[in-house]
Amino acid sequence: MSERARESAYITTPIYYVNDRPHIGHAYTTTLCDVWARAMRLRGHDVFFLTGTDEHGVKVERSAAARGIPPQDLADENAAEFQRVLSVFGLTNSDFIRTTQPRHVRQVQALIGRLLDSGSVYRGTFEGWYDESQEEYLTEAAAKEQGHRSIISGKPLVRASEENYYFRLSAFAPRLEALFRDNPGFVQPQGRFNEVLGRLRDGLQDVPITRTKFSWGIPFPGDPAHVIYVWIDALLNYVTALGLGALESGCDASRIAPGAHPDDAALARARAHLWPASYHVIGKEILWFHAVVWPAVLMALELPMPRRIHAHSFWIADGQKMSKSLGNFVDLPAIDGFIAHYGLDAWRWYMATQGPLQAADADFRAAHLHEIYTGELVNVVGNCPSRITAMIGKYFGGAMPADASGGGEWPNRCARAVQEWTIAIDSFDLAGAAEAPMRLLRDIDAFINRTEPFKVAKDPARQAELASILAQCAQSVRVAGVLLEPFLPARMADLAVALGGAGGGGSAQVAGGAGARTDLATLTRYGAIAEGTALAKCALFPRVEPAATAQP
Ligand code: MSP
Repeated sequence: MSERARESAYITTPIYYVNDRPHIGHAYTTTLCDVWARAMRLRGHDVFFLTGTDEHGVKVERSAAARGIPPQDLADENAAEFQRVLSVFGLTNSDFIRTTQPRHVRQVQALIGRLLDSGSVYRGTFEGWYDESQEEYLTEAAAKEQGHRSIISGKPLVRASEENYYFRLSAFAPRLEALFRDNPGFVQPQGRFNEVLGRLRDGLQDVPITRTKFSWGIPFPGDPAHVIYVWIDALLNYVTALGLGALESGCDASRIAPGAHPDDAALARARAHLWPASYHVIGKEILWFHAVVWPAVLMALELPMPRRIHAHSFWIADGQKMSKSLGNFVDLPAIDGFIAHYGLDAWRWYMATQGPLQAADADFRAAHLHEIYTGELVNVVGNCPSRITAMIGKYFGGAMPADASGGGEWPNRCARAVQEWTIAIDSFDLAGAAEAPMRLLRDIDAFINRTEPFKVAKDPARQAELASILAQCAQSVRVAGVLLEPFLPARMADLAVALGGAGGGGSAQVAGGAGARTDLATLTRYGAIAEGTALAKCALFPRVEPAATAQP
Protein backbone atom coordinates (compact mmCIF):
# COMPACT_ATOMS: atom_id res chain seq x y z
CA MET A 1 0.00 0.00 0.00
CA SER A 2 1.34 3.44 -0.89
CA GLU A 3 2.21 6.08 1.70
CA ARG A 4 -0.68 8.22 0.52
CA ALA A 5 -3.11 5.37 1.13
CA ARG A 6 -2.16 5.31 4.79
CA GLU A 7 -2.95 8.98 5.31
CA SER A 8 -5.72 9.91 7.65
CA ALA A 9 -8.80 11.73 6.44
CA TYR A 10 -11.00 13.83 8.73
CA ILE A 11 -14.46 14.95 7.67
CA THR A 12 -17.03 16.90 9.67
CA THR A 13 -20.71 17.83 9.44
CA PRO A 14 -22.00 20.98 11.12
CA ILE A 15 -23.12 20.19 14.64
CA TYR A 16 -26.90 20.47 14.66
CA TYR A 17 -29.00 22.63 16.95
CA VAL A 18 -30.96 20.63 19.46
CA ASN A 19 -33.93 22.98 19.39
CA ASP A 20 -34.92 21.31 16.14
CA ARG A 21 -35.90 17.74 15.30
CA PRO A 22 -33.80 16.00 12.64
CA HIS A 23 -35.06 16.65 9.08
CA ILE A 24 -33.91 16.26 5.49
CA GLY A 25 -31.32 19.04 5.82
CA HIS A 26 -29.47 17.27 8.62
CA ALA A 27 -29.90 13.86 6.98
CA TYR A 28 -28.54 15.30 3.74
CA THR A 29 -25.26 16.76 5.00
CA THR A 30 -24.61 13.74 7.20
CA THR A 31 -25.28 11.33 4.32
CA LEU A 32 -22.89 13.23 2.04
CA CYS A 33 -20.16 12.93 4.65
CA ASP A 34 -20.95 9.25 5.13
CA VAL A 35 -20.59 8.54 1.40
CA TRP A 36 -17.26 10.34 1.33
CA ALA A 37 -16.06 8.63 4.51
CA ARG A 38 -16.93 5.23 3.05
CA ALA A 39 -15.20 6.06 -0.23
CA MET A 40 -12.04 7.13 1.58
CA ARG A 41 -12.08 3.94 3.68
CA LEU A 42 -12.23 1.93 0.46
CA ARG A 43 -9.12 3.81 -0.61
CA GLY A 44 -7.37 2.65 2.54
CA HIS A 45 -7.42 5.92 4.46
CA ASP A 46 -7.76 6.05 8.20
CA VAL A 47 -11.03 7.98 8.26
CA PHE A 48 -12.39 10.01 11.13
CA PHE A 49 -15.95 11.21 10.54
CA LEU A 50 -17.39 13.59 13.11
CA THR A 51 -20.92 14.81 13.68
CA GLY A 52 -22.77 15.97 16.78
CA THR A 53 -25.07 18.51 18.35
CA ASP A 54 -24.84 22.22 19.16
CA GLU A 55 -26.59 22.55 22.49
CA HIS A 56 -26.01 26.03 23.91
CA GLY A 57 -27.43 29.46 23.13
CA VAL A 58 -30.52 31.52 23.52
CA LYS A 59 -32.58 29.51 21.02
CA VAL A 60 -32.18 26.31 23.01
CA GLU A 61 -32.82 28.21 26.26
CA ARG A 62 -36.04 29.66 24.81
CA SER A 63 -37.31 26.39 23.31
CA ALA A 64 -36.75 24.65 26.63
CA ALA A 65 -38.48 27.46 28.53
CA ALA A 66 -41.45 27.23 26.18
CA ARG A 67 -41.77 23.57 27.14
CA GLY A 68 -41.16 24.24 30.81
CA ILE A 69 -38.09 22.00 30.99
CA PRO A 70 -34.41 22.70 31.74
CA PRO A 71 -32.30 23.29 28.61
CA GLN A 72 -30.13 20.28 29.40
CA ASP A 73 -33.22 18.02 29.31
CA LEU A 74 -34.20 19.37 25.89
CA ALA A 75 -30.62 18.87 24.70
CA ASP A 76 -30.52 15.30 26.03
CA GLU A 77 -33.80 14.44 24.37
CA ASN A 78 -32.94 15.81 20.95
CA ALA A 79 -29.30 14.70 20.96
CA ALA A 80 -30.60 11.17 21.60
CA GLU A 81 -32.96 11.57 18.64
CA PHE A 82 -30.10 12.70 16.36
CA GLN A 83 -28.04 9.71 17.51
CA ARG A 84 -30.93 7.31 16.94
CA VAL A 85 -31.27 8.61 13.39
CA LEU A 86 -27.57 8.05 12.71
CA SER A 87 -27.82 4.43 13.71
CA VAL A 88 -31.13 3.76 11.92
CA PHE A 89 -29.63 5.29 8.76
CA GLY A 90 -26.46 3.21 9.08
CA LEU A 91 -24.27 6.31 9.12
CA THR A 92 -20.70 5.49 10.03
CA ASN A 93 -19.59 8.45 12.15
CA SER A 94 -16.54 7.84 14.33
CA ASP A 95 -17.71 10.00 17.23
CA PHE A 96 -20.68 12.16 18.19
CA ILE A 97 -19.75 15.36 19.97
CA ARG A 98 -22.19 17.28 22.17
CA THR A 99 -21.23 20.78 23.22
CA THR A 100 -22.51 20.20 26.76
CA GLN A 101 -20.10 17.32 27.27
CA PRO A 102 -17.47 18.09 29.93
CA ARG A 103 -14.65 17.24 27.48
CA HIS A 104 -15.86 20.00 25.15
CA VAL A 105 -16.62 22.55 27.89
CA ARG A 106 -13.20 22.13 29.53
CA GLN A 107 -11.33 22.42 26.25
CA VAL A 108 -13.32 25.44 25.02
CA GLN A 109 -12.40 27.25 28.22
CA ALA A 110 -8.76 26.30 27.77
CA LEU A 111 -8.73 27.43 24.13
CA ILE A 112 -10.39 30.76 25.00
CA GLY A 113 -7.74 31.13 27.70
CA ARG A 114 -5.10 30.76 25.01
CA LEU A 115 -6.82 33.41 22.88
CA LEU A 116 -6.86 35.78 25.85
CA ASP A 117 -3.18 35.16 26.56
CA SER A 118 -2.23 35.83 22.96
CA GLY A 119 -4.15 39.11 22.91
CA SER A 120 -6.60 37.93 20.24
CA VAL A 121 -9.48 38.36 22.69
CA TYR A 122 -10.04 41.64 24.56
CA ARG A 123 -12.78 43.31 26.61
CA GLY A 124 -14.76 46.20 25.13
CA THR A 125 -18.13 47.82 24.46
CA PHE A 126 -19.98 47.45 21.25
CA GLU A 127 -23.12 48.87 19.73
CA GLY A 128 -24.64 47.66 16.49
CA TRP A 129 -27.47 46.01 14.58
CA TYR A 130 -28.35 42.67 16.12
CA ASP A 131 -30.31 39.83 14.51
CA GLU A 132 -31.95 38.15 17.51
CA SER A 133 -32.96 35.00 15.65
CA GLN A 134 -29.40 34.47 14.40
CA GLU A 135 -27.69 35.81 17.55
CA GLU A 136 -25.52 37.81 15.22
CA TYR A 137 -24.40 41.42 14.92
CA LEU A 138 -24.41 42.75 11.37
CA THR A 139 -22.22 45.39 9.81
CA GLU A 140 -23.88 48.73 8.98
CA ALA A 141 -23.66 47.86 5.30
CA ALA A 142 -25.20 44.41 5.70
CA ALA A 143 -27.99 45.71 7.94
CA LYS A 144 -28.85 48.39 5.37
CA GLU A 145 -28.75 45.94 2.48
CA GLN A 146 -31.20 43.67 4.30
CA GLY A 147 -33.59 46.55 5.04
CA HIS A 148 -32.77 46.22 8.74
CA ARG A 149 -34.52 42.86 8.87
CA SER A 150 -33.22 39.35 9.50
CA ILE A 151 -32.74 37.46 6.22
CA ILE A 152 -33.54 34.25 8.04
CA SER A 153 -36.60 35.13 10.14
CA GLY A 154 -37.66 38.41 8.51
CA LYS A 155 -37.93 40.02 11.96
CA PRO A 156 -36.63 43.60 12.41
CA LEU A 157 -33.03 43.94 13.53
CA VAL A 158 -32.62 45.61 16.92
CA ARG A 159 -30.09 48.21 18.03
CA ALA A 160 -28.11 46.57 20.82
CA SER A 161 -25.08 47.41 22.88
CA GLU A 162 -23.02 45.14 25.05
CA GLU A 163 -19.97 45.12 27.27
CA ASN A 164 -18.27 42.07 25.92
CA TYR A 165 -15.20 40.12 25.07
CA TYR A 166 -14.18 40.50 21.45
CA PHE A 167 -12.22 38.41 19.06
CA ARG A 168 -9.80 40.56 17.06
CA LEU A 169 -11.05 39.40 13.66
CA SER A 170 -10.01 42.67 11.96
CA ALA A 171 -6.36 41.95 12.74
CA PHE A 172 -6.51 38.79 10.62
CA ALA A 173 -7.76 40.42 7.43
CA PRO A 174 -4.40 40.39 5.60
CA ARG A 175 -3.73 36.75 6.51
CA LEU A 176 -7.25 35.74 5.49
CA GLU A 177 -6.85 37.45 2.14
CA ALA A 178 -3.55 35.63 1.65
CA LEU A 179 -5.22 32.35 2.58
CA PHE A 180 -7.83 32.87 -0.12
CA ARG A 181 -5.31 34.09 -2.65
CA ASP A 182 -3.02 31.10 -2.13
CA ASN A 183 -5.78 28.46 -1.92
CA PRO A 184 -8.31 28.96 -4.70
CA GLY A 185 -9.90 25.62 -3.76
CA PHE A 186 -10.26 26.49 -0.05
CA VAL A 187 -13.99 27.02 -0.37
CA GLN A 188 -16.08 24.96 -2.78
CA PRO A 189 -17.97 25.42 -5.03
CA GLN A 190 -16.25 28.28 -6.84
CA GLY A 191 -19.23 30.64 -6.60
CA ARG A 192 -19.17 30.41 -2.82
CA PHE A 193 -15.42 31.09 -2.78
CA ASN A 194 -15.99 34.30 -4.75
CA GLU A 195 -18.83 35.28 -2.44
CA VAL A 196 -16.61 35.05 0.65
CA LEU A 197 -13.74 36.83 -1.04
CA GLY A 198 -16.06 39.68 -2.01
CA ARG A 199 -17.27 40.09 1.56
CA LEU A 200 -13.72 39.85 2.90
CA ARG A 201 -12.77 42.83 0.77
CA ASP A 202 -15.57 44.87 2.36
CA GLY A 203 -13.56 44.80 5.57
CA LEU A 204 -13.80 42.93 8.86
CA GLN A 205 -15.13 43.93 12.26
CA ASP A 206 -14.09 42.37 15.54
CA VAL A 207 -16.57 39.78 16.75
CA PRO A 208 -18.14 39.83 20.21
CA ILE A 209 -17.62 36.30 21.52
CA THR A 210 -19.49 36.49 24.81
CA ARG A 211 -23.05 37.18 25.86
CA THR A 212 -24.54 38.45 29.11
CA LYS A 213 -28.23 38.49 28.14
CA PHE A 214 -28.76 34.83 28.99
CA SER A 215 -26.91 32.10 30.83
CA TRP A 216 -27.21 28.88 28.77
CA GLY A 217 -23.65 28.64 27.56
CA ILE A 218 -20.09 27.88 28.57
CA PRO A 219 -18.94 30.31 31.30
CA PHE A 220 -16.17 32.63 30.13
CA PRO A 221 -12.95 31.69 31.94
CA GLY A 222 -12.35 34.10 34.84
CA ASP A 223 -15.56 36.10 34.23
CA PRO A 224 -18.59 33.82 34.64
CA ALA A 225 -21.09 36.69 34.23
CA HIS A 226 -20.34 36.16 30.53
CA VAL A 227 -21.11 33.04 28.56
CA ILE A 228 -19.22 32.17 25.40
CA TYR A 229 -21.08 32.99 22.17
CA VAL A 230 -22.65 29.84 20.80
CA TRP A 231 -20.91 30.09 17.43
CA ILE A 232 -17.41 30.20 18.94
CA ASP A 233 -18.33 27.33 21.27
CA ALA A 234 -19.72 25.37 18.30
CA LEU A 235 -16.86 25.91 15.83
CA LEU A 236 -14.36 24.70 18.39
CA ASN A 237 -16.03 21.25 18.35
CA TYR A 238 -13.95 20.39 15.30
CA VAL A 239 -10.81 20.48 17.43
CA THR A 240 -12.11 19.57 20.90
CA ALA A 241 -13.24 16.20 19.49
CA LEU A 242 -9.54 15.60 18.78
CA GLY A 243 -8.41 16.76 22.22
CA LEU A 244 -6.51 19.79 20.88
CA GLY A 245 -7.74 21.90 23.82
CA ALA A 246 -5.60 19.73 26.10
CA LEU A 247 -2.39 20.84 24.38
CA GLU A 248 -0.10 23.72 25.19
CA SER A 249 -0.23 24.90 21.59
CA GLY A 250 -0.67 23.65 18.05
CA CYS A 251 -1.49 19.99 17.50
CA ASP A 252 1.64 18.35 18.85
CA ALA A 253 0.31 15.63 21.18
CA SER A 254 3.61 15.39 23.01
CA ARG A 255 2.97 18.85 24.51
CA ILE A 256 0.06 18.21 26.89
CA ALA A 257 -0.79 21.38 28.83
CA PRO A 258 -0.11 21.22 32.54
CA GLY A 259 -3.46 20.85 34.28
CA ALA A 260 -5.23 19.29 31.26
CA HIS A 261 -7.85 16.75 32.24
CA PRO A 262 -6.53 13.19 31.73
CA ASP A 263 -9.48 12.27 29.48
CA ASP A 264 -8.76 15.24 27.21
CA ALA A 265 -5.06 14.41 27.18
CA ALA A 266 -5.91 10.84 26.18
CA LEU A 267 -8.09 12.16 23.34
CA ALA A 268 -5.22 14.31 22.12
CA ARG A 269 -2.79 11.40 22.16
CA ALA A 270 -5.18 9.28 20.11
CA ARG A 271 -6.46 11.91 17.71
CA ALA A 272 -4.36 15.09 17.49
CA HIS A 273 -2.68 13.74 14.35
CA LEU A 274 -6.03 13.94 12.53
CA TRP A 275 -5.92 17.76 12.36
CA PRO A 276 -6.29 19.54 9.94
CA ALA A 277 -9.68 18.42 8.67
CA SER A 278 -9.82 17.28 5.07
CA TYR A 279 -13.33 18.66 4.66
CA HIS A 280 -15.76 20.72 6.66
CA VAL A 281 -19.08 20.06 4.92
CA ILE A 282 -21.74 22.68 5.64
CA GLY A 283 -24.83 24.37 4.23
CA LYS A 284 -24.35 27.69 2.44
CA GLU A 285 -26.02 29.69 5.23
CA ILE A 286 -23.16 29.12 7.65
CA LEU A 287 -20.32 29.78 5.25
CA TRP A 288 -19.13 33.07 6.77
CA PHE A 289 -18.51 31.49 10.15
CA HIS A 290 -16.65 28.58 8.61
CA ALA A 291 -14.69 30.36 5.90
CA VAL A 292 -13.72 33.53 7.75
CA VAL A 293 -14.29 33.45 11.52
CA TRP A 294 -13.08 29.87 11.97
CA PRO A 295 -9.83 30.24 9.97
CA ALA A 296 -9.04 33.42 11.92
CA VAL A 297 -9.61 31.63 15.24
CA LEU A 298 -7.34 28.83 14.05
CA MET A 299 -4.68 31.36 13.06
CA ALA A 300 -4.92 32.90 16.52
CA LEU A 301 -4.49 29.43 18.03
CA GLU A 302 -1.57 28.74 15.70
CA LEU A 303 -3.32 25.72 14.23
CA PRO A 304 -3.17 24.69 10.56
CA MET A 305 -6.09 25.54 8.29
CA PRO A 306 -8.67 22.93 7.30
CA ARG A 307 -7.91 21.74 3.77
CA ARG A 308 -11.31 22.50 2.29
CA ILE A 309 -14.75 23.75 3.11
CA HIS A 310 -17.59 22.49 0.96
CA ALA A 311 -20.75 24.57 1.24
CA HIS A 312 -23.71 22.90 -0.42
CA SER A 313 -27.00 24.61 -1.20
CA PHE A 314 -30.50 23.85 0.06
CA TRP A 315 -33.19 21.33 -0.49
CA ILE A 316 -36.37 23.18 -1.22
CA ALA A 317 -39.85 21.65 -1.42
CA ASP A 318 -41.98 21.95 -4.55
CA GLY A 319 -40.20 25.15 -5.48
CA GLN A 320 -40.51 26.79 -2.05
CA LYS A 321 -37.99 27.27 0.74
CA MET A 322 -38.48 24.66 3.44
CA SER A 323 -39.27 26.39 6.69
CA LYS A 324 -40.76 25.67 10.04
CA SER A 325 -43.41 28.32 9.57
CA LEU A 326 -44.54 26.87 6.23
CA GLY A 327 -44.48 23.39 7.79
CA ASN A 328 -43.09 21.96 4.56
CA PHE A 329 -39.87 20.40 5.87
CA VAL A 330 -39.37 16.83 4.73
CA ASP A 331 -39.25 15.54 8.29
CA LEU A 332 -38.26 12.20 9.79
CA PRO A 333 -41.62 10.49 9.47
CA ALA A 334 -41.68 11.41 5.77
CA ILE A 335 -38.10 10.16 5.29
CA ASP A 336 -38.94 6.93 7.16
CA GLY A 337 -41.86 6.45 4.77
CA PHE A 338 -39.60 6.77 1.72
CA ILE A 339 -37.04 4.41 3.22
CA ALA A 340 -39.72 1.83 4.05
CA HIS A 341 -40.89 2.00 0.45
CA TYR A 342 -37.66 2.24 -1.56
CA GLY A 343 -35.02 1.05 0.90
CA LEU A 344 -32.23 2.94 2.67
CA ASP A 345 -29.78 2.59 -0.21
CA ALA A 346 -32.24 4.23 -2.59
CA TRP A 347 -32.67 7.14 -0.17
CA ARG A 348 -28.87 7.55 0.05
CA TRP A 349 -28.64 7.44 -3.73
CA TYR A 350 -31.21 10.17 -4.14
CA MET A 351 -29.54 12.36 -1.51
CA ALA A 352 -26.03 11.96 -2.92
CA THR A 353 -26.79 12.21 -6.63
CA GLN A 354 -29.80 14.53 -6.90
CA GLY A 355 -29.23 16.93 -4.00
CA PRO A 356 -28.02 20.54 -3.86
CA LEU A 357 -24.36 19.57 -3.71
CA GLN A 358 -23.16 22.52 -5.78
CA ALA A 359 -24.32 26.10 -6.13
CA ALA A 360 -27.99 25.54 -7.01
CA ASP A 361 -30.81 24.57 -4.67
CA ALA A 362 -32.53 21.26 -5.43
CA ASP A 363 -36.24 20.67 -5.38
CA PHE A 364 -37.34 17.65 -3.40
CA ARG A 365 -40.21 15.91 -5.18
CA ALA A 366 -41.39 12.44 -4.28
CA ALA A 367 -42.28 11.81 -7.93
CA HIS A 368 -38.69 12.61 -8.89
CA LEU A 369 -37.36 10.20 -6.27
CA HIS A 370 -39.56 7.54 -7.86
CA GLU A 371 -38.26 8.35 -11.36
CA ILE A 372 -34.66 8.10 -10.21
CA TYR A 373 -35.32 4.88 -8.31
CA THR A 374 -36.83 3.25 -11.37
CA GLY A 375 -34.64 4.81 -14.05
CA GLU A 376 -31.27 4.36 -12.35
CA LEU A 377 -31.49 1.77 -9.60
CA VAL A 378 -34.04 -0.68 -11.01
CA ASN A 379 -33.22 -0.31 -14.70
CA VAL A 380 -29.45 0.04 -14.51
CA VAL A 381 -27.85 -0.89 -11.17
CA GLY A 382 -30.29 -3.76 -10.56
CA ASN A 383 -30.97 -4.91 -14.09
CA CYS A 384 -27.44 -5.15 -15.46
CA PRO A 385 -26.08 -7.67 -12.89
CA SER A 386 -29.41 -9.50 -12.91
CA ARG A 387 -29.17 -10.09 -16.69
CA ILE A 388 -25.56 -11.24 -16.45
CA THR A 389 -25.99 -13.60 -13.51
CA ALA A 390 -29.17 -15.02 -15.05
CA MET A 391 -27.37 -15.82 -18.34
CA ILE A 392 -24.39 -17.33 -16.52
CA GLY A 393 -26.91 -19.43 -14.57
CA LYS A 394 -28.68 -20.53 -17.71
CA TYR A 395 -25.71 -21.20 -19.99
CA PHE A 396 -22.95 -22.17 -17.53
CA GLY A 397 -24.83 -23.62 -14.57
CA GLY A 398 -23.90 -20.55 -12.51
CA ALA A 399 -20.12 -21.11 -12.77
CA MET A 400 -17.98 -18.14 -13.82
CA PRO A 401 -17.03 -18.86 -17.44
CA ALA A 402 -13.46 -18.65 -18.78
CA ASP A 403 -12.35 -15.64 -20.78
CA ALA A 404 -9.59 -16.56 -23.23
CA SER A 405 -9.57 -13.04 -24.71
CA GLY A 406 -7.85 -11.29 -21.78
CA GLY A 407 -10.80 -9.00 -21.21
CA GLY A 408 -10.75 -6.98 -24.43
CA GLU A 409 -11.53 -3.31 -23.81
CA TRP A 410 -12.91 -3.95 -20.31
CA PRO A 411 -9.79 -3.78 -18.10
CA ASN A 412 -9.16 -0.29 -19.51
CA ARG A 413 -12.74 0.82 -19.18
CA CYS A 414 -12.81 -0.34 -15.57
CA ALA A 415 -9.52 1.41 -14.81
CA ARG A 416 -10.90 4.60 -16.32
CA ALA A 417 -14.01 4.39 -14.13
CA VAL A 418 -11.84 3.93 -11.03
CA GLN A 419 -9.74 6.92 -11.99
CA GLU A 420 -12.74 9.17 -12.66
CA TRP A 421 -14.34 8.08 -9.39
CA THR A 422 -11.15 8.85 -7.44
CA ILE A 423 -10.76 12.32 -8.92
CA ALA A 424 -14.42 13.09 -8.20
CA ILE A 425 -14.16 11.90 -4.59
CA ASP A 426 -11.10 14.12 -4.09
CA SER A 427 -13.11 17.19 -5.05
CA PHE A 428 -16.25 16.11 -3.15
CA ASP A 429 -18.11 15.73 -6.43
CA LEU A 430 -20.22 12.84 -5.20
CA ALA A 431 -22.64 12.96 -8.12
CA GLY A 432 -19.64 12.75 -10.45
CA ALA A 433 -18.25 9.82 -8.47
CA ALA A 434 -21.58 7.98 -8.80
CA GLU A 435 -21.65 8.67 -12.52
CA ALA A 436 -18.36 6.84 -13.23
CA PRO A 437 -19.64 3.33 -12.31
CA MET A 438 -23.06 4.18 -13.78
CA ARG A 439 -21.41 4.87 -17.12
CA LEU A 440 -19.58 1.57 -16.82
CA LEU A 441 -22.86 -0.26 -16.21
CA ARG A 442 -24.53 1.48 -19.14
CA ASP A 443 -21.57 0.51 -21.33
CA ILE A 444 -21.91 -3.10 -20.20
CA ASP A 445 -25.62 -3.03 -21.04
CA ALA A 446 -24.84 -1.59 -24.46
CA PHE A 447 -22.18 -4.29 -24.98
CA ILE A 448 -24.73 -6.99 -24.16
CA ASN A 449 -27.22 -5.47 -26.57
CA ARG A 450 -24.58 -5.25 -29.27
CA THR A 451 -23.01 -8.71 -28.83
CA GLU A 452 -26.35 -10.44 -28.14
CA PRO A 453 -25.08 -13.32 -25.97
CA PHE A 454 -28.61 -14.82 -25.95
CA LYS A 455 -28.22 -15.34 -29.72
CA VAL A 456 -24.60 -16.46 -29.52
CA ALA A 457 -25.75 -19.11 -27.00
CA LYS A 458 -27.82 -20.79 -29.69
CA ASP A 459 -24.72 -21.69 -31.71
CA PRO A 460 -22.70 -24.54 -30.14
CA ALA A 461 -19.64 -23.46 -32.18
CA ARG A 462 -19.58 -20.06 -30.43
CA GLN A 463 -19.38 -21.25 -26.80
CA ALA A 464 -15.95 -19.71 -26.17
CA GLU A 465 -17.18 -16.36 -27.48
CA LEU A 466 -20.26 -16.59 -25.23
CA ALA A 467 -18.03 -17.39 -22.25
CA SER A 468 -15.83 -14.36 -22.99
CA ILE A 469 -18.74 -11.93 -23.32
CA LEU A 470 -20.35 -12.99 -20.06
CA ALA A 471 -17.08 -13.20 -18.14
CA GLN A 472 -16.15 -9.67 -19.25
CA CYS A 473 -19.56 -8.43 -18.14
CA ALA A 474 -19.33 -10.12 -14.73
CA GLN A 475 -15.79 -8.86 -14.06
CA SER A 476 -16.72 -5.31 -15.01
CA VAL A 477 -19.97 -5.33 -13.03
CA ARG A 478 -17.98 -6.36 -9.97
CA VAL A 479 -15.72 -3.32 -10.35
CA ALA A 480 -18.74 -1.02 -10.78
CA GLY A 481 -20.20 -2.58 -7.62
CA VAL A 482 -17.10 -1.68 -5.59
CA LEU A 483 -17.29 1.95 -6.75
CA LEU A 484 -21.00 2.09 -5.94
CA GLU A 485 -20.58 0.66 -2.45
CA PRO A 486 -20.19 4.01 -0.62
CA PHE A 487 -23.56 5.04 -2.06
CA LEU A 488 -25.39 1.71 -1.90
CA PRO A 489 -23.63 -0.25 0.85
CA ALA A 490 -26.30 -2.88 1.56
CA ARG A 491 -27.19 -3.76 -2.04
CA MET A 492 -23.58 -3.70 -3.22
CA ALA A 493 -22.66 -6.11 -0.41
CA ASP A 494 -25.41 -8.39 -1.80
CA LEU A 495 -23.96 -8.00 -5.28
CA ALA A 496 -20.46 -8.87 -4.06
CA VAL A 497 -21.85 -12.05 -2.48
CA ALA A 498 -23.76 -12.94 -5.66
CA LEU A 499 -20.49 -12.58 -7.58
CA GLY A 500 -18.79 -15.05 -5.25
CA GLY A 501 -17.03 -12.48 -3.01
CA ALA A 502 -17.08 -12.04 0.73
CA GLY A 503 -19.60 -9.22 0.58
CA GLY A 504 -18.67 -5.60 0.41
CA GLY A 505 -15.33 -3.86 0.34
CA GLY A 506 -15.42 -2.71 3.93
CA SER A 507 -16.49 0.89 3.46
CA ALA A 508 -18.11 0.86 6.91
CA GLN A 509 -14.91 -0.06 8.72
CA VAL A 510 -14.36 2.29 11.62
CA ALA A 511 -11.08 4.18 11.87
CA GLY A 512 -8.55 2.59 14.14
CA GLY A 513 -10.62 -0.60 14.24
CA ALA A 514 -9.24 -4.07 13.83
CA GLY A 515 -9.45 -5.82 10.47
CA ALA A 516 -7.39 -5.44 7.38
CA ARG A 517 -7.24 -2.06 5.65
CA THR A 518 -8.74 -2.05 2.21
CA ASP A 519 -6.83 -1.03 -0.85
CA LEU A 520 -8.69 0.33 -3.85
CA ALA A 521 -6.27 -1.04 -6.45
CA THR A 522 -6.76 -4.58 -5.12
CA LEU A 523 -10.50 -4.18 -4.66
CA THR A 524 -10.99 -2.97 -8.21
CA ARG A 525 -8.51 -5.31 -9.91
CA TYR A 526 -10.07 -6.48 -13.16
CA GLY A 527 -10.41 -10.25 -13.31
CA ALA A 528 -10.79 -10.92 -9.58
CA ILE A 529 -13.62 -13.42 -10.07
CA ALA A 530 -11.85 -16.75 -10.62
CA GLU A 531 -13.03 -19.06 -13.36
CA GLY A 532 -15.50 -21.61 -11.97
CA THR A 533 -16.62 -19.42 -9.03
CA ALA A 534 -20.27 -20.10 -8.19
CA LEU A 535 -22.34 -17.02 -9.05
CA ALA A 536 -25.87 -16.50 -7.81
CA LYS A 537 -28.72 -14.71 -9.53
CA CYS A 538 -29.41 -11.37 -7.93
CA ALA A 539 -32.39 -9.07 -7.79
CA LEU A 540 -31.12 -5.90 -6.13
CA PHE A 541 -33.84 -3.30 -6.62
CA PRO A 542 -37.40 -4.57 -7.07
CA ARG A 543 -39.75 -2.57 -9.25
CA VAL A 544 -42.28 -0.80 -7.01
CA GLU A 545 -45.31 1.45 -7.39
CA PRO A 546 -44.82 5.12 -6.50
CA ALA A 547 -44.90 5.63 -2.73
CA ALA A 548 -48.26 6.85 -1.44
CA THR A 549 -46.66 10.23 -0.69
CA ALA A 550 -45.32 10.33 -4.26
CA GLN A 551 -48.61 11.57 -5.70
CA PRO A 552 -48.19 15.10 -7.02
N1 MSP B 1 -25.48 24.69 14.92
C1 MSP B 1 -25.22 25.34 13.69
C2 MSP B 1 -23.96 24.81 13.05
C3 MSP B 1 -22.72 24.90 13.88
S1 MSP B 1 -21.37 24.15 13.10
C4 MSP B 1 -20.04 24.58 13.98
C5 MSP B 1 -26.40 25.11 12.76
N2 MSP B 1 -27.17 24.06 13.03
S2 MSP B 1 -28.49 23.62 12.22
O1 MSP B 1 -29.14 22.61 13.01
O2 MSP B 1 -29.27 24.76 11.87
O3 MSP B 1 -27.96 22.90 10.96
C6 MSP B 1 -27.62 23.63 9.83
C7 MSP B 1 -27.20 22.65 8.75
O4 MSP B 1 -28.27 21.75 8.44
C8 MSP B 1 -26.90 23.33 7.43
O5 MSP B 1 -25.63 23.90 7.40
C9 MSP B 1 -27.04 22.17 6.51
O6 MSP B 1 -25.93 21.34 6.66
C10 MSP B 1 -28.27 21.47 7.06
N3 MSP B 1 -29.51 22.01 6.49
C11 MSP B 1 -30.55 22.60 7.16
N4 MSP B 1 -31.54 22.86 6.27
C12 MSP B 1 -31.17 22.47 5.04
C13 MSP B 1 -31.84 22.34 3.79
N5 MSP B 1 -33.07 22.78 3.59
N6 MSP B 1 -31.17 21.72 2.78
C14 MSP B 1 -29.92 21.17 2.96
N7 MSP B 1 -29.29 21.25 4.12
C15 MSP B 1 -29.75 22.12 5.10
O7 MSP B 1 -26.53 25.86 11.82
